[in-house]
Amino acid sequence: MENLSISYVDYPIASGKESVVFKAYIGKKPVAIKIFKISTIKFSTLERYIHGDRRFENERKDRSTRVFLWCRKEYTNLDELNRWKINAPMPYDYNMNVLIMQYLGTAKSPSPQLRDYRGELEPLYAELRRQLRIMYSSAKLVHADLSEYNVLVYRKKPYFIDVGQMVDRRHPSADEFLRRDIFNISNFFRRKGIQVEEQELYDFVTGGSVE
Ligand SMILES: Nc1ncnc2c1ncn2[C@@H]1O[C@H](COP(=O)(O)OP(=O)(O)O)[C@@H](O)[C@H]1O
Ligand SMILES: [Mg+2]
Repeated sequence: MENLSISYVDYPIASGKESVVFKAYIGKKPVAIKIFKISTIKFSTLERYIHGDRRFENERKDRSTRVFLWCRKEYTNLDELNRWKINAPMPYDYNMNVLIMQYLGTAKSPSPQLRDYRGELEPLYAELRRQLRIMYSSAKLVHADLSEYNVLVYRKKPYFIDVGQMVDRRHPSADEFLRRDIFNISNFFRRKGIQVEEQELYDFVTGGSVE
């Protein structure tokens, strides 16, 4: 990391098999630091989302290089989303297996995952649909791990996170990934009593440029 200097690390927000996310500070600005685990990350999963994405496939294949690439891939994907003004944490920097990005949350607590959000879901779904259409039809990207766990609700808007596996629309499995994303997210909203029809959502998302 060239210019960014962490003032202090506050606390772990979340810890999983593949990564740990901390809240930290650069000066007075809160940031989120995502550290990718190297020894325990599931290697075969990485391969599936790297091979076939022309932006990233020509790289060395040993474990640590792969994880560093995964980290860079998440950084690049966050950057692309932000360039399209799609809601996602702004990426600040990365180095090896460490990614620094915008912290989503209040002074008191990090933003909740969609599954824990207690506010109104109808407007959130409407916004999520719109964002997914920009993602697919304009930015030409597929999230590929979309679920109520990987959407945070920040200032009442849905924000996409966890985009290491996000692929270019030309990836040979892109359509399969998109259908799975749509299946997962439709299921969540339907369980919450919101009328969502999978095929309708698919047609909307793939319906062409929004602007
Ligand atoms: N930028 C962020 N701001 C606040 N919390 C975050 C941020 N990024 C991730 N988190 C929290 O950390 C959790 C794990 O992050 P995620 O990127 O989904 O990693 P994993 O691959 O381990 O699922 C998220 O569910 C969320 O609660
Ligand atoms: Mg996640």
